[in-house]
Amino acid sequence: MAGEALIELRGVNKYYGKLHVLQDIDLTVGRGEVVVIIGPSGSGKSTLCRTINRLETIESGTITLDGTPLPDEGRALAELRAEVGMVFQSFNLFAHKTVLANVMLAPVKVRKVKKEDAARRARELLDRVGLASQAEKYPAQLSGGQQQRVAIARALAMDPLALLFDEPTSALDPEMINEVLEVMQQLARDGMTMVVVTHEMGFARSAANRVVFMADGRIIEDRAPEDFFTAPRSDRAKDFLSKILKH
Ligand SMILES: Nc1ncnc2c1ncn2[C@@H]1O[C@H](COP(=O)(O)OP(=O)(O)OP(=O)(O)O)[C@@H](O)[C@H]1O
Ligand SMILES: [Mg+2]
Repeated sequence: MAGEALIELRGVNKYYGKLHVLQDIDLTVGRGEVVVIIGPSGSGKSTLCRTINRLETIESGTITLDGTPLPDEGRALAELRAEVGMVFQSFNLFAHKTVLANVMLAPVKVRKVKKEDAARRARELLDRVGLASQAEKYPAQLSGGQQQRVAIARALAMDPLALLFDEPTSALDPEMINEVLEVMQQLARDGMTMVVVTHEMGFARSAANRVVFMADGRIIEDRAPEDFFTAPRSDRAKDFLSKILKH
């Protein structure tokens, strides 16, 4: 399934002051690949996601998206950044806008899509995430799982090359987790390139092409899910898995 590299990090290093938060990161995500990133708290998973989107600067290394190096700043960066959608733990929807308006917003503002076209596309996307009937509601009128599915529809509205998810289900009540994971599973089957930080090991097993295990700012293992879960090589990964698979 994996074709050419869509996202490529080579020798990426990042510091927060003295903290070497990303250390010599090499990571390739092929077109249509789903890569799940796991690891202990503070290992640098969120920073890695934000770095891929250049929401964070890096001290050294290169990040290329679809063969184009990410520029440091300016308009070119904004354009490339728009090619990678992000979905966060907190849904970050605009509270005073309807669901439909939330999904339409970026295409209209950033891409200058005509309102009627953006609205039609937004309704299609809301249908795709199972929320066609909720378009006129406000975020606060929806459950957490529904709000997160709106956030996914909103990210899709920009027709991104890839989607990054940073713990998209960890703020949700247990009964809402599956409805979000199912939408993500479907996106994966549809061939969307995805980088997903999650502790949902069922998702990792069933949807991921690769599992990347991070600890202390480094990639310790980068392997097929089956191999990683049945035979982790590093003590760090063994220790981590024994803790999270217990509950
Ligand atoms: N803006 C910041 N300024 C300074 N240090 C930061 C900043 N953001 C993160 N850090 C530190 O960088 C390290 C990596 O943080 P990061 O949020 O990437 O970890 P994580 O793997 O996503 O953790 P979690 O599982 O808790 O979400 C941590 O030690 C964190 O305290
Ligand atoms: Mg994090």
